[in-house]
Amino acid sequence: MRILSGIQPTGKLHLGNYFGMMRPALALQEQGEAFLFIADYHALTTVEDPALLREAARDVALDFLACGLDPERTAFYRQSDVPEVTELTWLLSVVTPMGLLERCHSYKDKLARGIAPSHGLFTYPVLMAADILAVDADVVPVGRDQKQHVEVTRDLAVKFNRRCGAEVFHVPEPSILEDVAVVPGIDGQKMSKSYGNTIEIFGDPAETRRRVMRIVTDSRGLEDPKDPAACNVYALFRLFADPAERAAMEERYRAGGLGYGTVKKELLERMDAWFGPMRRRRAELERDPAQVEAVLRRGAGRAREAASRTLARARRAVGLD
Ligand code: ADP
Ligand code: TRP
Repeated sequence: MRILSGIQPTGKLHLGNYFGMMRPALALQEQGEAFLFIADYHALTTVEDPALLREAARDVALDFLACGLDPERTAFYRQSDVPEVTELTWLLSVVTPMGLLERCHSYKDKLARGIAPSHGLFTYPVLMAADILAVDADVVPVGRDQKQHVEVTRDLAVKFNRRCGAEVFHVPEPSILEDVAVVPGIDGQKMSKSYGNTIEIFGDPAETRRRVMRIVTDSRGLEDPKDPAACNVYALFRLFADPAERAAMEERYRAGGLGYGTVKKELLERMDAWFGPMRRRRAELERDPAQVEAVLRRGAGRAREAASRTLARARRAVGLD
């Protein structure tokens, strides 16, 4: 089974991204032949500053490698290192009905957020279809917001195959990453860089500590029994605990005599134990950019091998041979 997913480079990795996106993405490498790429062409539709794009793309690469991506098993690459994808985008665009793109929620949402309606933003789903079809992916794990784009991909594959009277493209299935619980930020809203309520994983240690100590709690006193289900600190603590440890902590909450400050300190200890090895690994990789570059180039090589075969099929099918 071939599994493919893309990640937009967008800012510093926080606990929400780690548990909501990265861990599920890394779990894919256990399930089949995984292709994972940094969607830098897509990012261009919203990121205007070249330095920012460069830094964000580098951060994603370091983050994934530090957090356990195994480049022997997973083809890890930058989208922009696989030029076949852009050519395929054109071939797909000639079978793409305008109405299909006009119905895409993500496009409408972006306009509503004030992003200028460029052609790139509009055809974003066609580029995404090319990413997926280029490597003959069987399964595309995405968040719910991207499901429609995978459906567009399926539509385009079927239309193209019908037009050419041949099985040029393999029709993929979406796999929705449901119920990855929303990780709350330090103010109790969804953790998000747009709300400024994040706890970063590879950020400055003193700042990380300050942020954990600032997690909003209710005003119950030390001796009062407390409700773990209503507590933002517990919601984060539980991410780092197994079922028995969760049960024990819940018991301490209900018994009273446990201060929120104590749980915050224990949360920090857990985070340090969990992320410590990854922080060290990331620091090593940061000192060795050539190694990171070599991984991405090797990944791009594997993706290009698959993509060039698909592209040759598609060119032949439309009469460009
Ligand atoms: P942000 O909200 O900080 O801008 P993004 O929208 O860039 O984060 O999200 C990147 C990925 O991380 C997405 O797959 C998203 O589902 C996941 N993610 C972000 N925040 C959270 C959160 N608080 N809880 C769970 N998953 C999250
Ligand atoms: N559009 C996806 C997102 O914003 C990223 C992406 C680009 C992608 N190409 C893809 C995801 C192909 C899955 C498959 O999250």
